[in-house]
Amino acid sequence: MGEPGSDGTGPDAAGAAGAAEQAAREQELTDRVVASFAGADDERLRTVMQALTRHLHAFLREVRLTEDEWNTGIEFLTAAGHITDDKRQEFILLSDVLGASMQTIAINNEAYANATEATVFGPFFVDDAPRIDNGGDIAAGAAGQPCWVEGTVTDTSGDPVPGARIEVWEADEDGFYDVQYGDDRTAGRAHLFTEADGGYRFWGTTPTPYPIPHDGPVGALLAASGRSPLRAAHLHFMVTAPGLRTLVTHIFVRGDELLDADSVFGVKDSLVMDFAEQPAGTPTPDGRAVEGTWSRTRFDIVLAPATSPAA
Ligand code: BEZ
Ligand code: FE
Repeated sequence: MGEPGSDGTGPDAAGAAGAAEQAAREQELTDRVVASFAGADDERLRTVMQALTRHLHAFLREVRLTEDEWNTGIEFLTAAGHITDDKRQEFILLSDVLGASMQTIAINNEAYANATEATVFGPFFVDDAPRIDNGGDIAAGAAGQPCWVEGTVTDTSGDPVPGARIEVWEADEDGFYDVQYGDDRTAGRAHLFTEADGGYRFWGTTPTPYPIPHDGPVGALLAASGRSPLRAAHLHFMVTAPGLRTLVTHIFVRGDELLDADSVFGVKDSLVMDFAEQPAGTPTPDGRAVEGTWSRTRFDIVLAPATSPAA
């Protein structure tokens, strides 16, 4: 007589048969849910929901999700809903810290020649920020080391783009955007237009690191995962011009130790710039009197054609 089960009977065989039956039941459910979307009139909806179902079920089966974990997930999403209002969007923050925002941006802003890379939009853009002339100051009282920013906007053939609208916004040296003070101030944001040669220039403040909002469920997830909520120091840009792909991006500060640990995975090597610190007393490009040190950087922006893939 051989070992129990070696002849296809006994507990091992029963276990194998059980596992096969279990896998078949799980697969049958997935197939039924996928099939339930087969009648969607909208082909794109059908594609997205069927793929979502397949991947979601594969995830549940891979991690063998427990019912307690399923409940924890539901509670997490409920808490994200409760903290979300017209100013706070916890679901976008969740997408950001999962890298889903950056992956969607990568897919929809396909690499095109030497066009400048896009990065995450973030929650602190405000429509109708004041207009400044070239050489003006976006800080408007925001605390920080003065920083001179200049560059050009061109297309991918190198031709200047005059009249491009550039929106810029940034946190102050304490790590807060104006809208986080809750007192209606406007500071650290503005828009300006490129000149005939595509050039632009303005004063702002040298970017400093700050945390994403982390007093909600996404912050708790980061803490439980041993991850920091800090973003690498950056200055936001949104550039629009007729016939060209709108660019939402930031520039980062070379040497910032958070470049490899940005909480929303927004850093791209091509967007890391020198912010050269200037000793006190160094003459400024426009003759402005600055007390103490200041910094300067250059950001030459290249816009893809609007008709380029996934514009
Ligand atoms: C920001 O850069 O402003 C930001 C981006 C993603 C999440 C939170 C803040
Ligand atoms: Fe930001």
